[in-house]
Amino acid sequence: MPANRKTITHFMIEEQRRTQGTGDFSMLLGDIITSCKVISDQVNHGALVGALGSAGSENIQGETQKKLDILSNEIFLRFNEIGGHLAGMASEEMDDPYALPEGAPRGKYLLLFDPLDGSSNIDVNVSVGTIFSILKCPEGVTHPEVEDFLQPGTTQVCAGYALYGPSTMFVLTSGNGVNGFTLDQNIGEFILTHPGMKVPEDTREFAINASNQRFWEEPIKRYVDECMAGTDGPRGENFNMRWIASMVAEIHRILTRGGIFMYPIDERIRAQGGKLRLMYEANPMGMIIEQAGGVASTGYERIMDINPTGLHQRVPVIMGSKNEVELLVSYHKK
Ligand code: AHG
Ligand code: MN
Ligand code: MN
Repeated sequence: MPANRKTITHFMIEEQRRTQGTGDFSMLLGDIITSCKVISDQVNHGALVGALGSAGSENIQGETQKKLDILSNEIFLRFNEIGGHLAGMASEEMDDPYALPEGAPRGKYLLLFDPLDGSSNIDVNVSVGTIFSILKCPEGVTHPEVEDFLQPGTTQVCAGYALYGPSTMFVLTSGNGVNGFTLDQNIGEFILTHPGMKVPEDTREFAINASNQRFWEEPIKRYVDECMAGTDGPRGENFNMRWIASMVAEIHRILTRGGIFMYPIDERIRAQGGKLRLMYEANPMGMIIEQAGGVASTGYERIMDINPTGLHQRVPVIMGSKNEVELLVSYHKK
């Protein structure tokens, strides 16, 4: 590796100086980065280490857990519980907030995560990822309860994801733009490869699970119909469609070349509020997309403005290139 490349450690030191931080936040991030490297290694070895397949259990949302869902969750807990930078953690794979071991030093942050996103793709060797969100623990709270985690996305201190694809990447925002790093396996360090990531304002590419079409609301039907009509329709241009079924991979594509990602509300999932989780998926990805110049909405409101009512709350998600998301939001107003 050329010596002029910037490691994520170097990047964090510079950020810490710029914001006159205490170092607490950088240390927490360091633990998160280590967790993601360990998960990356497990995902990478897959069948060689017996990591594939179902665990035979379900999470609180009634989804079958994969062995790697549980393993990744364990890795996050073990690597982050001892640093002394956290007051608590919450995960898609745990019913309740995780109580730090008694006697463990406590810090001022809360960590929320989806340890393995897109886990239905693991056994078929398609990209998966980890999503995380960092909040401040309310002042004076040392043993946070559910209510302490229920803060709107606008209060996030930091959000990021790791993508376990052909390369392992780590993408991060702490409210000052979005930066992407690629794991150099030879030296075990993330290197800054994608500084200042920006979502192009316009796109001709959309992502939605079209098998749910018959359940969609009118605005989504209209938008997708118009995209599909291409040069023969009102948009007057041909669109391309992608669906990976890994939100991380989808959002990464949009950060790289633009696009719109939709997991809207539909009749099939109306009772549960949506498909994707506000605290572990929609909020962190919403912050990243907004920090990169994109828009993140439910169709009816800005995702990050939602006042959470439950740790595992689900919401409709529409995010990506500004002009397309705004067009679709305008269809919801009619
Ligand atoms: P998870 O694997 O953490 O449960 O999340 C999967 C999510 C998201 O990544 C993806 O966009 C969506 O579920 C896939 O939904 P479909 O099964 O409808 O394709
Ligand atoms: Mn997920
Ligand atoms: Mn998951």
